[in-house]
Amino acid sequence: LDDPAADPFAIATAAAADIARLTGVERHDIALTLGSGWGRAAELVGETIATIAATDVTGFSAPALEGHVGTLRSVLTPRGKRVLVIGARTHFYEGHGPRRVVHSVRTAAASGARTMVLTNGAGGINPHWKPGQPVLISDHINLTGASPLEGATFIDLTDLYTMRLRDLARTIDPSLDEGVYCQFRGPQYETPAEVQMAKTIGGHIVGMSTALEAIAARQAGMEVLGFSLITNMAAGIQTTPLSHQEVIEAGREAEPVISDLLARVIGAL
Ligand code: 6GU
Repeated sequence: LDDPAADPFAIATAAAADIARLTGVERHDIALTLGSGWGRAAELVGETIATIAATDVTGFSAPALEGHVGTLRSVLTPRGKRVLVIGARTHFYEGHGPRRVVHSVRTAAASGARTMVLTNGAGGINPHWKPGQPVLISDHINLTGASPLEGATFIDLTDLYTMRLRDLARTIDPSLDEGVYCQFRGPQYETPAEVQMAKTIGGHIVGMSTALEAIAARQAGMEVLGFSLITNMAAGIQTTPLSHQEVIEAGREAEPVISDLLARVIGAL
């Protein structure tokens, strides 16, 4: 994937073949990427058919971070849908190019998935939100300066996080609020001035993932559903310093509730 001459879609096709061979499941209907705090959802979504190490799949790199797991699972929902659960996110801040960041999404598409569910732990700008609260992503602002698309690929991103899927999520939990997700490159958290900028340009959530993946998912013709767990308020919105530990702990506390929500939403897809 780091070789500019290599075809990232051919590598994704090879990865999907690895998954089929290692899990015994040929095709998947839905893909679910688990962000910080969302890890337990996999068990609630359905029966785990197989769990494999991401490092055994072509093009996947080992995640090093606490709170991030390096596995892929094939899960069967009670209604018979096949879900590829991706617990192996590659972040742009790790210094990999966007091709590596979106490889799991392209692999999911090559495995047949038509719906991409992206989850993350993120900072809240909207002062009405509380840490531990899940919110729907209504749209994004990509502040990374990067794109997973190469060449003259002018894809439309109107209704990227489709209204159809957001409405469906709200039938499961009518209290779900929504907001615009700003992807920063990271890995440092934003300065208070950067958070004010994000707010001024229309952002409500700050994070370090998801937007690049959503773009690749749309390119692959998938429908995207996005959820952020507000693990903390963004810098300057909360007056105490931000810490990765705080993010992990907020995720751990919210996990039972948001995992249940996610499992029910996926069950309804
Ligand atoms: Cl405040 N910012 C970013 N970029 N990512 C986060 C976060 C904040 N809180 C959790 N993840």
